[in-house]
Amino acid sequence: MTQTEVRNYPRKVMTEGGEIEFRHMTPADEAAVLAFARKLPVHDLLFLPRNISEPKVMSAWAKELDRGTIVSLLALKDGQVVGCGTIVRDALSWSPHVGEIRMVISQDVRGLGVGRALSNETFALALVIGLEKLVVQMTVDQTGAIAIFEGLGFKGEALLRDHVRDMDGTTHDIVVLGHNVAQFRAQMEAYGLPEAVST
Ligand SMILES: CC(C)(COP(=O)(O)OP(=O)(O)OC[C@H]1O[C@@H](n2cnc3c(N)ncnc32)[C@H](O)[C@@H]1OP(=O)(O)O)[C@@H](O)C(=O)NCCC(=O)NCCS
Repeated sequence: MTQTEVRNYPRKVMTEGGEIEFRHMTPADEAAVLAFARKLPVHDLLFLPRNISEPKVMSAWAKELDRGTIVSLLALKDGQVVGCGTIVRDALSWSPHVGEIRMVISQDVRGLGVGRALSNETFALALVIGLEKLVVQMTVDQTGAIAIFEGLGFKGEALLRDHVRDMDGTTHDIVVLGHNVAQFRAQMEAYGLPEAVST
């Protein structure tokens, strides 16, 4: 079963920043997402293993989308990419049941609820594709991101000191939050709610 069969897109939500459309990213979105990434401050990309403002990294990402190892949702406002939420998993690793959520929102729509809406949507998609555990990581100063994911039930699992180095050579700590979504899904099923996330 593909992700698009279990949850329908596009979906629209109203936020303080106006109407936002969510849909799957495809390799055809490569140029638009690169332009979006290049407008982001470099510090906001430090939680990612690779610098997505580099064209070769974006091309590799597009190939992973094709292979299905990465699922990315775009948030669009008036047809422009204003956010991206990604679920990364590795079916051949010892953690095929674990997915990592990565999310970034354009600076010009921050603080307007777009990040919260996209995290809700990405979380719902991760649930319906059957992942059992989710993790997120971010620099410790991303208080908005930590607030969003703690609100979804994630809890701190690790602090990686001096784990990333920015272009000035300054190191930053990374916090890892985790969520046992298998347990969460079981609770939803007990309440008779699985349909709420699957359509
Ligand atoms: C984290 C991020 C996605 C939030 O996006 P956003 O659209 O600004 O988020 P929202 O407007 O939905 O705000 C979400 C919550 O965070 C809070 N928040 C937002 N920015 C904040 C800040 N700078 N400091 C403290 N809290 C903040 C908001 O008050 C809101 O909480 P509330 O709904 O209880 O009021 C965005 O800041 C971003 O792209 N950061 C860089 C990338 C990153 O670190 N991603 C996290 C890795 S998964």
